[in-house]
Amino acid sequence: MPNILLGVSGSIAAYRACDIARELMRAGHTVRVAMTRAATRLVSPDTFAALTGNPVAIDVFDEPESGQIAHIRWAQDADLVLIAPATAHTIARLAFGLADDMLTTIALATRAPMLIAPAMNPAMWTHPATQAHVQTLQARGVEFISPAYGVMACGDEGWGKIADTATIVQAVARRLLSARDLEGVRVLVTAGPTYEPIDPVRFIGNRSSGKMGYAVAEAAIAHGAQVTLITGPTMLTPPAQAQVIRVQTALQMYEAVQNEFAQCDAFIATAAVADYRPERTLPKKRKRDTQSWTLNLVPNPDILGEVAQRKEHRIVIGFAAETDKAIIRAKNKLLRKNLDLIAVNDVMEPDSGFEVDTNRLSFIFANGRVENLPLMSKRECAERLIQALAAMMERKVRHTNSQE
Ligand code: PMT
Repeated sequence: MPNILLGVSGSIAAYRACDIARELMRAGHTVRVAMTRAATRLVSPDTFAALTGNPVAIDVFDEPESGQIAHIRWAQDADLVLIAPATAHTIARLAFGLADDMLTTIALATRAPMLIAPAMNPAMWTHPATQAHVQTLQARGVEFISPAYGVMACGDEGWGKIADTATIVQAVARRLLSARDLEGVRVLVTAGPTYEPIDPVRFIGNRSSGKMGYAVAEAAIAHGAQVTLITGPTMLTPPAQAQVIRVQTALQMYEAVQNEFAQCDAFIATAAVADYRPERTLPKKRKRDTQSWTLNLVPNPDILGEVAQRKEHRIVIGFAAETDKAIIRAKNKLLRKNLDLIAVNDVMEPDSGFEVDTNRLSFIFANGRVENLPLMSKRECAERLIQALAAMMERKVRHTNSQE
């Protein structure tokens, strides 16, 4: 039974949250409510406690269930966080990552998908500050349930009314469904660069930060997958739910992928693997002198290309980092490496590819179909990639069933 954390903030529409809580429970969900102080002036916490059968949390130091640190426990227990209604002030606090009451503290501590149903005066909703906060949150993967058009309590007319209850409950159902569509699926992800040692202090590397690959791992986990993340050296914290294998070199990544591939249902190669390594690594630091220095480089194995040749039932997805003729080159890679999908990025663009938080990907499928995505956060790119993976897995299951 999915656990919904319903956040209620101080809009006049707070009374609608009673209806939303009831409908969510009718749909079979467990509902816990966290209210802002302002919301308690509009609806009594006792109303939500009676409706949901659970205590209501307001202040960070509240301990509604004795012996439990609620802001952590509730954050971890939640399968989905829905904030309805969300005021401009609460949206701003979420965008800034403030944690000054129970609701915002839980929002910061949870890794569950988050849906926000805003409710406010149209001038406040369309204000550039609010819209900037909305964009910040969307870039982090938060989904907004657009407010409706209508006459407000103050008499103003425009966009800002909270969406109707059915729309909100459907959005929750849709998000919960997508949150489980990879349940039981084992996804192997590679991320980050590889470092090829020249001597104990120098290496050949590349500019991969790992952001794209870590986002892919996080998105797969959010869809219920069991994720193994093989990561090159990065400054990032890997998702807590992933099994993490740390490597430095392409040969170590090769070995790790070889060991893990047989156990996976899908492989996503996001890592920027060094194609070459120094033929030999010096045992001691080479001292500076006036001589020129020539390094002999030898090719590394093509990790993705090799395992994909024996992929059998698995879905195998690659990335392509291109600097020119991106689509043509990526199509060739897809065919050469026997992939189901390749996500290509033009790494010459300043807002795409290495290091930055955004990316502009094109998905090329094995049947030749090309889907060009707009510029979006790497989180959103990862979400779209995992949705494509889930759709391919489902088609595969349907196909297998129809042959039985
Ligand atoms: O980490 P970020 O800073 O967020 O940057 C993201 C990214 C630019 C690294 C990512 O979006 C990306 O493009 N990753 C693939 C980089 C790459 O190595 O592309 P490629 O075109 O050289 O390789 C094609 C595919 O073969 C890739 O899936 C790669 O993982 C794989 N490969 C490449 C070489 C090799 N020896 N073994 C491989 O498995």
